[in-house]
Order: sequence, then structure tokens, then C-alpha cells
Amino acid sequence: MFDGVAERYDRTNTILSFGLDRSWRHATHTALALKPGDVVLDLAAGTGVSTEELATSGATVIGVDISQGMLRAGKRVRPDVTLLAGDALALPFADATFDAVTISFGLRNVHDTAAALAEMARVTKPGGRVVICEFSHPTNGAFRHAYLAYLMAALPSVARRVATNPDAYVYLAESIRAWPDQAGLAAKMITANWTNVAWRNLTGGIVALHRGERSHAPR
Ligand SMILES: C[S@@+](CC[C@H](N)C(=O)[O-])C[C@H]1O[C@@H](n2cnc3c(N)ncnc32)[C@H](O)[C@@H]1O
Repeated sequence: MFDGVAERYDRTNTILSFGLDRSWRHATHTALALKPGDVVLDLAAGTGVSTEELATSGATVIGVDISQGMLRAGKRVRPDVTLLAGDALALPFADATFDAVTISFGLRNVHDTAAALAEMARVTKPGGRVVICEFSHPTNGAFRHAYLAYLMAALPSVARRVATNPDAYVYLAESIRAWPDQAGLAAKMITANWTNVAWRNLTGGIVALHRGERSHAPR
């Protein structure tokens, strides 16, 4: 599916989110508190738009994605960003490789959320950080109602005009609706050996930033 949307992926995102994707990426970057010298995994990096933003910190950032189409589109427009092919469920890295690991709008798309969270913990150093930027559930009832109307009706019809594969955006709306709420995702993180788990809502909870630390306890 992502191979099919790759060519216009960055532009479609910005149109459908009214440009908010940029502020969500910036908030993810800030939450990671990266320092030069940190080695960071940007999982499900797609075209590398998130990886490029994080690399401005001076940290070494490695983007990994399973879609060859997304990686190809990314390498063409961002030749300086490190993008590798890999599966979130079987990462090609040794245990405790990274100071921090992050995933933006990717965890919802991986088939097995629990296994991906555990694999992310495996490759992170004990005490290392995780930040998950993902669509979530608006907390205000009236706002949630208006947002769901946009998501289920307006978004697929706008996508028909601007995206290369509009069906992917019907999937997007349905997958956001089916995704666990803020507390539900936090519980999954704790089960996967992340500690000090907390979250912050962005844009009223349309997006949530979950953060945590890799437990020092053995898995
Ligand atoms: C919505 S895109 C997010 C891309 C980028 N992080 C961003 O913020 O724009 C989701 C990405 O998840 C990737 N993905 C889905 N399952 C994956 C897996 N098992 N391993 C690695 N990447 C995966 C897809 O190929 C796709 O590029």
C-alpha cells in the first residue's frame, strides 16, 4: 500500500493535515531531547521526512522502513538522509544499539503492535528513550465528533483528488478509528518493557506523543 502512495506521500500529508504535520514532527523532535553523539532509530521512516527533521539535532539518525517504494522516493529527494530497508518486527540491529528510538505515524501500520514495541525495546539501551508520535483520540466530545466527521467523509474525498492511491486514505481513516486510545497505548508500552511511560496530546488529542524509557530489568 505504501509503495502505491510514495510519490505524493509528503505533499498529501501536508494537505490533509492542513500543515499540522510539521508541528507534530517538531514536537516529536523536542520530546526526544537529542544530543550530538546520540544514535537514534527512526522506525517506519517512510520517505525520511521525520528522519531529516531529527538529524538537524546533530545526532546520528537511521531511518528504517519496509516499503521499497517509500525508501526510493525518500532517497531521491533526501539523498543525505540514512534510510535502510528493514522490518519493525525483526530489526537488523543488535540488542541495546540505540540511545533513542522513535516512530511517527508508523506503529498503527505494523501488523503486531506488541511485537513491534518489544523489538523497539530490544534494540534500545537500558535507560534509553522512546517517543511514539501517532494519531489518537480527541478528548473533547464535540471536537471528537467534528474530527470523526472529517476523517470518515471529507478526508477520503479530498484524498481522491490529491493522492496517488485514494483507497489508502480510506484505510487511514479506518485505522485511526480502530487504534487504542492514549491510556490503551501506554498500557501496551508498559507490557513491552518500557517504564516511566507518559503522554501528551497534540491538537486536542488528534495526535498523542507517548514517551518512555527502556527498563533496566531483563525482558
Ligand atoms: C504513515 S507512514 C509514516 C512515515 C514517516 N514516519 C512519517 O512520519 O511520515 C507509515 C510507514 O510505516 C511503514 N511500515 C509498515 N509496516 C512496517 C514494518 N513492519 N516495518 C517497517 N516499516 C513499516 C510503511 O512502509 C510506511 O512507510
